[in-house]
Amino acid sequence: MATALASLRSLPSVTLAAHPTPVDRLDRLRSALGPSCPTLLIKRDDLLSFAMGGNKVRKLQTVLAEANLAGADTLITCGGVQSNHCRVTAAAGAALGLKVVLVVNGTPQDVPTGNALLDRLFGAQVHYATTRQDRDSLMASVAADLTAQGQRPFVIPLGASTPTGAAGFARGIEELLVNVHQSGSRPDTIVHASSSGGTQAGLIAGCALFGLKSRVIGISADEPAARLSATVLALLEELAVRLGGSRATIGADKDVVVDDRFVGDGYGLPTAASTEALTLVARHEGIVLDPVYTAKAMAGLIEKIRDGAFSIDDTVLFWHTGGQAGLFA
Ligand SMILES: Cc1ncc(COP(=O)(O)O)c(C=O)c1O
Repeated sequence: MATALASLRSLPSVTLAAHPTPVDRLDRLRSALGPSCPTLLIKRDDLLSFAMGGNKVRKLQTVLAEANLAGADTLITCGGVQSNHCRVTAAAGAALGLKVVLVVNGTPQDVPTGNALLDRLFGAQVHYATTRQDRDSLMASVAADLTAQGQRPFVIPLGASTPTGAAGFARGIEELLVNVHQSGSRPDTIVHASSSGGTQAGLIAGCALFGLKSRVIGISADEPAARLSATVLALLEELAVRLGGSRATIGADKDVVVDDRFVGDGYGLPTAASTEALTLVARHEGIVLDPVYTAKAMAGLIEKIRDGAFSIDDTVLFWHTGGQAGLFA
């Protein structure tokens, strides 16, 4: 355990967001959800102090250190037209003096909005893939072309959900422990939006490595639960090897909990429950969720509270993973 933890702490990283994010109480939301609602906390990674924040900042801090070590001069990554990951990668390239090429699937907008607008503001070059399935081959061919021109491209897989990216997120648990120490409230459960798996793998690994006994529940934004939990498990297993720890030190010996009942008709399509969640949190707490990920995750949390999945004595922490630019898409 000590070795794996030491390896995690010594992984190189670049600092994009130097400041810890707060954990706040959601007391007005709690009252609105009725007398048996558990204590609700929120980890405000939407406030990470770089490029409009969000979970990608934590993952990219370690992944970009790998790119630096590889001597990269160009970052290539992919996502949807409104990808939060693409936006943060574009900004990180700008901040580190690296060129950024984004491969996105979706229709080019005449007037870019939301994250697509920010991608251009940060100076990224955007290539369009016809479908999600075409993104990887297009990234590979862009990388091959750049290499042939004497450049040094570094390909970042979808969502920076690599073992290194998950390790970056795992470090967020050390930050959470400082929040916990300051507030005296220790979460029994952490609920968050899950999609490419790196955030969930990082949270599970971080809890195991730093000794925080919180249960982690990922609410899927798109993937079926079985596939997403297998992805998270595979990331955890690779991370265990990378950090020199056993499966148990990294939390890979327990079931990975993913709930896919809140996706609705598909990725990015609002549901009645996600719209209710977005509105409830805005009107009771003045906190903005995003329509694609965090509103669906909050819808999942609210339904679990209404179903009596938690006791009134429990403390549940909602990890806000950002994405608000999606509201302006
Ligand atoms: C705002 C937001 N929340 C959650 C997620 C899910 O994170 P992950 O892809 O690491 O599972 C994403 C990623 O796409 C995101 O942009």
